[in-house]
Amino acid sequence: MPDRMKGKVAIVTGAASGFGKGIAATFQSEGGSVVITDLSEETGASVAKEIGATFVRADVTKREDWEKVLKQTLDSYGRLDVVINNAGTTYANKPTETVTDKDFDFVFDVNVKSIYLSTNVILPYFLKEGIKGSFVTIASTAGLRPRPGLAWYNASKAAVINATKSMAVEYGPKGIRFNSVCPVFAAGTGLSSKFLGKEDTDENRKGFVATIPLGRSSTPQDIANACLYLSSDEGAFITGVALEVDGGRCV
Ligand SMILES: NC(=O)c1ccc[n+]([C@@H]2O[C@H](COP(=O)([O-])OP(=O)(O)OC[C@H]3O[C@@H](n4cnc5c(N)ncnc54)[C@H](O)[C@@H]3O)[C@@H](O)[C@H]2O)c1
Repeated sequence: MPDRMKGKVAIVTGAASGFGKGIAATFQSEGGSVVITDLSEETGASVAKEIGATFVRADVTKREDWEKVLKQTLDSYGRLDVVINNAGTTYANKPTETVTDKDFDFVFDVNVKSIYLSTNVILPYFLKEGIKGSFVTIASTAGLRPRPGLAWYNASKAAVINATKSMAVEYGPKGIRFNSVCPVFAAGTGLSSKFLGKEDTDENRKGFVATIPLGRSSTPQDIANACLYLSSDEGAFITGVALEVDGGRCV
């Protein structure tokens, strides 16, 4: 029985689909206890049932929802060790002069404010209980090596990579770790067609995939494997990294 997450309780946001679902399923199969959260009640509850996790409907942009998720996690499992901040969004790829105030606010609320709120609500719990917790931010290669047409999505990911490093140095002395995982483009997730700015087909993906030395896009399992390493005891001495899971794209 694989047990790299045995005894650990994790929250995975946006886990009703895509990378989040892969991360939650991998943590469960490695003996962890997972609370998955998402905006989507129906899909979230169905994924939780499928993998044996607990589901809490929550919007990552709302403080009261973070407070509810922490409370329900502690009520169900008595502790919390790992937070995977995976929920994210973008506007569809387009010329940057056509981005609206609404697009900008939406992307920064979901991608950046969510990280602020998660740490603002959960750090006091880790500090009070003396838990050497771990936060993983699902950022993107977009925050390190941007592509055209997604300027403010790219900037939101650069912001959270920096915030994650900042908190790694600030809370390292307390044993609390902060890392980012930076996936390259994945085919078939909820956001894929928005990144492309057109339908997510083999033909339309060619341009993206051509820039990846290993010759393919990323998968939820690739991202889950990186999160597992960083969240398990194997990652105990790793903090402040922005781990590219990108087949060499950022070289
Ligand atoms: N798919 C890619 O190519 C790719 C590449 C690099 C980084 N990422 C990042 O990976 C993460 C996951 O993306 P994905 O491709 O799996 O997308 P996805 O759309 O399949 O999954 C994202 C999930 O987050 C949920 N969500 C959105 N807004 C939310 C909110 N306010 N509160 C709670 N849940 C919310 C959605 O309902 C959805 O289930 C995102 O942060 C994204 O920026 C994706």
